[in-house]
Amino acid sequence: MTKTSPPSIIALDGPAASGKSTLGRKLADQLGYLFFDTGVMYRAITWIGLQQDMNLRDEAAITELAQQAQIDIRPPSKNDGRACDVIIAEKDVTWDMRGDEVDGNVSIVSAYPGVRKALSEQQRRIGMRGRVVMVGRDIGTVVLPEADLKVYLDASAEERAKRRFNEMIARGDKADYDEILRKVIERDRIDSTRAVAPLRPAEDAVIIDSDKLDVEQVFANVLALCK
Ligand code: DC
Repeated sequence: MTKTSPPSIIALDGPAASGKSTLGRKLADQLGYLFFDTGVMYRAITWIGLQQDMNLRDEAAITELAQQAQIDIRPPSKNDGRACDVIIAEKDVTWDMRGDEVDGNVSIVSAYPGVRKALSEQQRRIGMRGRVVMVGRDIGTVVLPEADLKVYLDASAEERAKRRFNEMIARGDKADYDEILRKVIERDRIDSTRAVAPLRPAEDAVIIDSDKLDVEQVFANVLALCK
């Protein structure tokens, strides 16, 4: 990397609803890079498991599913807020995977070491091509430890629950703040205490606390790091 070229591999990690995806998409657009939200892969496996009525506590079966599943991630075919199309068996499951059932179960699936191995190998292969903004929990620590820039985007659980609540209300959905907060805290607990690749900042990550920053301010901070 020369002094003037932006970092080629950008890892963007942080807890649920910290604004990683919004930031990652803006950054990838600005730099003309691929945006890759790795959470969709864990969601896709969870969604298939639920669809097929599998027991998500059956680690061996879910691991085998992750090793065999064909998850196709394509450029967005619709302008409905999606960052990409997620296609499984020719079905567009982009929004199905964002539902409550997947939200409530994805942490179980993403804690399995074999699932993580299968998915992170695919993520790494894509990331190593460069010119990528990759978003997740363990990108800077495990998937791409050689990333040129690592950002860990943090925010308090209360602030993240408030943002989720506002998004749901804006979409016209029903929302219960206390319930959302409870789920955010529970997902944090599972994601950061799992034995393999727990959620934590890489030692060389730049930590940004977005509690008192809006999207544009966070974006400006990260863009400055790229220059
Ligand atoms: O970012 P998200 O909410 O879509 O992620 C869904 C789940 O997948 C979340 O519980 C954590 C997990 N995940 C992970 O363990 N590692 C990643 N690199 C990305 C997501």
